[in-house]
Formats: sequence, structure tokens, C-alpha cells
Amino acid sequence: MGKFNNDLEEYLNQHSTPEDSVLAELTRHTYLTTYNPRMLSGRQQGLFLQMLCKMLNPKRVLEIGTFTGYSAICIARGITPYGTLDTIELNDELEESILKFFNQAEVTQTITLHIGNALEIIPTLDYHYDLVFIDGDKLEYPEYYNKVFPQIKVGGFILADNVLWDNKVLNPDPNDTHTKAIMDFNQMVQDDSRVQNVILPMRDGLMLIQKITD
Ligand SMILES: C[S@@+](CC[C@H](N)C(=O)[O-])C[C@H]1O[C@@H](n2cnc3c(N)ncnc32)[C@H](O)[C@@H]1O
Repeated sequence: MGKFNNDLEEYLNQHSTPEDSVLAELTRHTYLTTYNPRMLSGRQQGLFLQMLCKMLNPKRVLEIGTFTGYSAICIARGITPYGTLDTIELNDELEESILKFFNQAEVTQTITLHIGNALEIIPTLDYHYDLVFIDGDKLEYPEYYNKVFPQIKVGGFILADNVLWDNKVLNPDPNDTHTKAIMDFNQMVQDDSRVQNVILPMRDGLMLIQKITD
């Protein structure tokens, strides 16, 4: 991240509600114990997810890619007490600490954690969702979208993270499979007449998608 971005980040943080002690400790823990701590949503996006949930008032939310639980806690705080969140994480080594932080954040009543592959778990969840947050393996975004689409209510939303992929979508390296997968996903959504979509240039890019018809 360059100086401009660091300055911008600092300014944004100075003018946004501070993290509470649970999210601050979760962030420290993530930086101490994981290889790629920057995957966590962080303060700005976390607050955005929480407020978006308060605006939409979804009854059922699905998250693909829990990681250490930052975004899940923020979503849960936005939907409590009436909503529920199913969150799916592939890496079983994260389970214990995820549950510890859900407990500390007092959101265990709101969240069900599923450990395993989202592509296998989604069809077993017999629910229709108001909001789905896609934040798993970037190579699998098109598959998540197709798999989850029938389980989203008409009028419901998908939010997909990292759709600008460090702005690499603007100048892609032809050998970079992750950038290609994100670009394929963005184009697939753009070509889908069943939805309305917009990219918010927040953090690494969030695509907000509304399902208009089945
Ligand atoms: C970017 S991180 C999620 C960050 C988290 N949503 C947050 O904002 O704090 C992506 C996570 O997706 C998980 N993941 C990757 N492929 C998956 C799959 N097929 N099913 C479930 N989780 C998956 C990874 O193990 C990783 O923890």
C-alpha cells in the first residue's frame, strides 16, 4: 500500500466509529497466528457490513469464507436479534478460535458455523437467503454464484468481496489465474439479466448484486 493509500486509510479510520475490544483482539490474534492476515475484512468494511445489515434487515444471511470471524461478527451485530447467519469455512484449524471469538462477541445465538467446502455444504442448507456474502476462494466465485443463486430470495442480495483484486482487473497479467477468475466472475454477473449490480470501490472492491428474478 503506497503513502497515499496509507494516508487515506488513516483519514477514513479517524472518521469512522472505532473497533470494540473484541474485534481489536481478533485482529491482533489474526496477525499473530495466520499466514495471510490481510484477508480479514477490517474496520471499514466490517462497519459497512454491519450497517448494510441494519439497513436491509435480512432474516437469513449466508457467508462463504469465515476466516477468523471478523466479518461474521460484524454481520451478526447488524442482524441481531431477528436474523441468523450461516457461515462456512474450509479450514478446520480455524474452528476453535472462530468459536472463541464468537463467544467473546456474544453472537453464538445468531451464528451457525459450518466447517467444510462451501460448494458441498450450500446444497445441504435447506434455506432461502436474503443476503449472501461471497468471500471464499477467488477461483471459485463463479461456482459459488451459480450454486447459491437458486437459494436467494427474489429481491435478495449478494455481496462479493475483492472484485477489483488490488486493481489488477484494470491491467491483468494473462498468467494470473486469480485475476482471470475475478474478471470472469464480474463479466458473468454483468451479463446476467436476472440481476442488477454495482461495484463499490471500497477497500478491494465490493460487488453489490440484487436478484430481480429467478
Ligand atoms: C478472504 S478469507 C475470508 C475473510 C472473512 N470473510 C473476513 O472478512 O474476515 C477467505 C476464507 O475462505 C476460505 N475458503 C476458501 N475456499 C473455501 C470453500 N470452498 N469453502 C469454504 N471456505 C473456503 C479460506 O479458508 C479463507 O479462510
